[in-house]
Parts: sequence; structure tokens; C-alpha cells
Amino acid sequence: MGLKDKFAEHGMKLGLAVTLNNLENKEQAACIKEHFNSLTMENAMKPDFILDHKRSKETGDIVVSFNPEMIKIMEWAEENGFSMRGHTIVWHGQTPEWIFYEDFDTAKTLVDRETMLLRLDSYMRQIFERLDEGDFTKLFYAYDIVNEAWREDGSMRQSLWYKTIGEDYLWHAFYLADKYAPESIDLYYNDYNEQQKTENCVKFVETLKDENGRYLIDGIGLQAHMYTEDDLDVYFKMLDTLAKTGLKLQLTELDVCLGAFKNTAEATAENLKLQAAFYKRLVDGIFERVDAGMLKTDALTVWGLADDMSWRREGNPLIFGTNLSKKPAYYALEGEIMK
Ligand code: GLA
Repeated sequence: MGLKDKFAEHGMKLGLAVTLNNLENKEQAACIKEHFNSLTMENAMKPDFILDHKRSKETGDIVVSFNPEMIKIMEWAEENGFSMRGHTIVWHGQTPEWIFYEDFDTAKTLVDRETMLLRLDSYMRQIFERLDEGDFTKLFYAYDIVNEAWREDGSMRQSLWYKTIGEDYLWHAFYLADKYAPESIDLYYNDYNEQQKTENCVKFVETLKDENGRYLIDGIGLQAHMYTEDDLDVYFKMLDTLAKTGLKLQLTELDVCLGAFKNTAEATAENLKLQAAFYKRLVDGIFERVDAGMLKTDALTVWGLADDMSWRREGNPLIFGTNLSKKPAYYALEGEIMK
């Protein structure tokens, strides 16, 4: 029995962020198959990996081309019976600036609102068309349409999406995603520190409706890049508030560093135990809410396989350590009583 089977008891998938390297490594692939059943690409589906500058310049329209890494990951997922989360389309990070400029040339001026809306339409349409052409659509159950648009102070991030289109770029992103994505793919807004953005997030998702009051969005993604000193009561309160929107919620990038923000702690036995207790309390709290019908969630995704591969490796945030050793956090999730 792998960890994924524990999650399945609550109607959930257990997801993992991966690179092709993870899947091509025998030991890592075996561990992934044992414990996980959903994949998110750590990078290969991000805007800078799928937007084709040369062909955009040649054709005069924004062009999406899938890269070999992305295709190989989808093929692997299909061969091994994994589902996938798409990540991500409209974001300020890892997005080439040329998409916002006249003739796709950053030496020129930013395009006007109408042009950028047309480019957004084309970008969104091509992603779902390319998935369909490759017969990959069926792999995807969720997609982060927009990532990180809001700041903690309630203001919108001044990204080039915002600057070219204006505040309603978010509405248009979801309107177009709803238009081009199949019903079978849930459309997510994904962000971090929702504990500090809760009220604003509730207000914001209410605006993502069509003229008949129907939601254009299906779920809110909570990245959950956490610390063992974070207050889980505050986190659960946020989950309970967001759950009342009726939308699905998913933890999409979970990792839990030892210690606190800007003050990570050493990987002592004591701290690893605290981390194990944190993971367990978090996951149990989610299971309880799901079982009680208080929370709609169909997956939880962990951001990386092992500490030595993590983008936050200084905080040892994952459930596996070097050489895929099982950490106390792994055993806590597996349900063994900790010594
Ligand atoms: C954010 C993004 C992820 C990833 C991390 C850093 O959380 O959503 O895709 O880039 O930052 O690895």
C-alpha cells in the first residue's frame, strides 16, 4: 500500500510536482508509482516553456508549441495511469515579456488592450487545441488558469497582463478558459499565503461569473508552501472560509520547511518530529473536513519528491530525504505511530 491509497480512502488523489529527470530515474520512478497518482509539471508547461517566440514573430499571432519534455511527461503519465494538473497559463513569473509587445519585440511598445485580449484568446485556445490534438486532454482533471495575481495587502500585482489589459484580465482569462477547456478539466485560481488574502479571495472569486451568475471557475488552489512554525488553526480557518464559496479547494504545491520564514531550523531529530506532526495534523484536518462534507477537494499535491531536489531544500520541506529515505513525515502520513 502506498500513500496514494490512504488518500483514495477519502476520494482524493495524491499528486507530485515532477521534472522529466524524476521519471527517467529508475528508483525515483518506482517511488513515484508506489505513492502518487497525479502529476504536475514543475516547469515544462509554464508559459516560457510553451510560447514560441520565433513562430510568433513569423506568423504575427502568439504561438503555443509543446516542448519534448512536456510531451514525454504526458506520455509517461498515460502509460502509468497517472492523472495530471495543468500548471500554469496566466502568471507574472516565467512568462516571456515579448508576448506583451508590438510585433513580439520588446524594443517596441506594449500592445493595446484589444490586441492583448486577442492574444490571450489565441493563447488559451491553442493550449486546449494542442492537448486535444495529442489526445492528452483526458489526462487532465484540473488546470491552474491564473497563478498569483493578488498581493497580501489586497491590491493586484502590477504584472504586464494587468498593465496591458487592465483589472478585468482575470475575468477574461477565466471566461476564455471556460470557453475552450472541456468540462472534464476543473479551472483553478492558484495563489500563496491565502491565510492573509482570505477575504479578498472570497470577493474575487465572486466576480468570476458569467452573465447568468454561473461560476467560470471550479476551484481555488492553495500552494501551501509552509513552515513548521505556521499556525495550523489559522490555516484551517482559512480553508473553512474559502470552502463556503462552494468551490473545490486543493493544496497544490505543499511543502513544509523546518522553522519559520527567513529563519529555517536544522534537521535535528526533534525538528523532523515536529515536521511529521505538522504534516499529519494538516492532512488529518483535511480528511476530517472532506469526510464530513465540509470541504470539496479531490487531490493534494506535494511540490517535489525529496529534500535534495526541492526548491526550498535549505528547509528540508518534503516527506522523503536524500536517497529517497523515508522521513518521520512520511511515516506520520503512512499512519505509523511515531517513536
Ligand atoms: C510558485 C509557482 C510554482 C513554482 C514555485 C517555485 O509557487 O506556482 O510553479 O515556480 O513558485 O518553485
